[in-house]
Amino acid sequence: MVLSNCRGIFSMLLSLWLLASTPVLAIWPAPSSINTGDSTLWIGPTLSVSYNGKPLPWIYGYEPKGPKFSSSEIIKGGVGRAMTNIVHKNFVPWMLYNRMELEQTEPSLSKPKTYITHLDIVQTKTDTSKTFKPLAGDVDESYSLSVDKNGKTSIKAVSSTGVLRALESFSQLFFQHSKGPFFYTKSAPVSITDKPEYDHRGVLFDVSRSFFPMDSILRTIDALAYNKMNRIHIHATDSQSWPLEIPAIPELHQKGAYAQGKTYSPSDLATIQQYAINRGIEPIIEIDTPGHFGIVALSHPNIVAGWESTPWTSYCAEPPCGQIRLKEPSVDPFLDKLMNDILPRVSPYSAYFHTGGDEVNFNMYKLDPTVATNDSAVIVPLLQKFIDKHHARVRKAGLVPMVWEEIPASYNVTVGKDVLIQSWLGDEAIAALTAQGHKVISSNYNFWYLDCGRGQWLNFAGADLATYYPFPDWCSPYKNWRLVYSYDPRANLTAAQAKLVVGGELAAWSESIDDATIDDILWPRASAAGEVLWSAAKGRSQIEAAPRLAEFRERLISRGIKSGTVHMPFCTQGQNATACKYL
Ligand SMILES: *[C@@H]1O[C@H](CO)[C@@H](O)[C@H](O)[C@H]1NC(C)=O
Ligand SMILES: *[C@@H]1O[C@H](CO)[C@@H](O)[C@H](O)[C@H]1NC(C)=O
Ligand SMILES: *[C@@H]1O[C@H](CO)[C@@H](O)[C@H](O)[C@H]1NC(C)=O
Ligand SMILES: *[C@@H]1O[C@H](CO)[C@@H](O)[C@H](O)[C@H]1NC(C)=O
Repeated sequence: MVLSNCRGIFSMLLSLWLLASTPVLAIWPAPSSINTGDSTLWIGPTLSVSYNGKPLPWIYGYEPKGPKFSSSEIIKGGVGRAMTNIVHKNFVPWMLYNRMELEQTEPSLSKPKTYITHLDIVQTKTDTSKTFKPLAGDVDESYSLSVDKNGKTSIKAVSSTGVLRALESFSQLFFQHSKGPFFYTKSAPVSITDKPEYDHRGVLFDVSRSFFPMDSILRTIDALAYNKMNRIHIHATDSQSWPLEIPAIPELHQKGAYAQGKTYSPSDLATIQQYAINRGIEPIIEIDTPGHFGIVALSHPNIVAGWESTPWTSYCAEPPCGQIRLKEPSVDPFLDKLMNDILPRVSPYSAYFHTGGDEVNFNMYKLDPTVATNDSAVIVPLLQKFIDKHHARVRKAGLVPMVWEEIPASYNVTVGKDVLIQSWLGDEAIAALTAQGHKVISSNYNFWYLDCGRGQWLNFAGADLATYYPFPDWCSPYKNWRLVYSYDPRANLTAAQAKLVVGGELAAWSESIDDATIDDILWPRASAAGEVLWSAAKGRSQIEAAPRLAEFRERLISRGIKSGTVHMPFCTQGQNATACKYL
């Protein structure tokens, strides 16, 4: 009796507290520190902005031009986007209030309004060329943001990238009023200090298995920026198609793209790279070698072993098979020509070039006339030579090589300590490689492979029908956002090893994903990883995260990102995650 009364009073207090604090002011990903009040402030298009003491006239939709990057231009673009998101792409948060209570809880339009009229931006250090093409750790992305009760607003950051992160948080403070184009926060004063936990926070975008129009890639770059993520890894080629135009070897895309026009010209690539950098995101290009290279057989059959060999299950991870030959004399001149074309188009925009290296099939080398065996005693030294030469090409262009984990961890190939290794097979390689002093990013497929769990893309008949029923894919189940959120890339490592895990990437392999479905595949799941990587979600519960993620998801929708649903309004109304807690 007494106990149940206590619980009654407690839950009454809890619901009063929940009511008083609705809607939760959800900055996603969660800042390191945030203090908010309960005063209302309004904002409108007349906001004036200064940058390091000088006026910064901003315009909606401003996109800095050209391959040179200027801090004030980048910030001008950032202010324009923040204001677009506040006054043109905002949302009425009915789903965050109790049923039928939106109108009572919104600030009154008839009372006098205090406006935020000026935003003062101070950048405390000058950007360097590294700011715009950083190695992990080169950019200080920290910032502070303060909005006082009277609307005085300021941002302070070390780099222009930090200013962009601050502007993103600023844009997330505001909601749209249900009565029209009026924008408010009910949480002033606001004071935020913030910095990322990991330096490398990205998404792998596979434009080879399916072709993605430019808009799809640029939209994803915007969404990454909304999540304060800072890398887009373009998996540009694979055995299924070669959409990347290489002017020195035009037959690669002329024969290897899916169709005429389904390609990325040098100017498309530069557009992607510049668009990303203007949003504080580094574009990383991958041309996978020596596996995942089959399509090159259409234009250069001598370079490739085992093109379309059958049964594919004996020779590669998925059809069509095809791998670079290891002792064919024309391979080196071909790769020299390829790299001499692409690397100078990468190096102005990135510190890295990804050389691939996953799923090299040793059995395939039985079909390589220059190797003709699957004996690893023969193959490993050849692979070592291949990697040494290929990475030398990358270093000569002033870039740092990236590789998939198999090269060092499965094939025992030695790679330089400069190389950034991308792990995907689980956390054993992370432990082993960091113990050897290698830098690593994690894309653990058990948590961060976004294509998984949606069923096979291959078709089955005959006896296979029964064997493979009900047709789960190799990495089922689906990695729902709760599972994505539960992953800690630094779990079980010593402090010294943990430091070498510089970040992670979610992978959106596109065998069964295209432009029509990519948004729902990426979001809100990449947001969940975005918070793990920005704020180290360790210890944060689903109950705490769900209402914030649901609110952020509404922002993604209002900004034109067709994100999947976190859960129904019954769960989000009143910011009452407890209503949807299991038991
Ligand atoms: C290598 O080839 C032999 C003989 O063809 C085969 O028995 C063996 O399974 C193959 N090894 C691998 C790793 O595929
Ligand atoms: C790599 O080394 C490990 C441990 O010595 C060994 O088990 C494995 O077979 C080697 N792999 C190759 C491809 O040689
Ligand atoms: C960490 O270790 C625990 C206990 O051995 C294990 O259950 C868990 O899967 C490990 N986590 C990672 C990410 O390796
Ligand atoms: C939150 O949900 C619980 C359980 O459904 C309910 O008892 C409580 O009244 C709700 N609180 C609010 C503020 O809606």
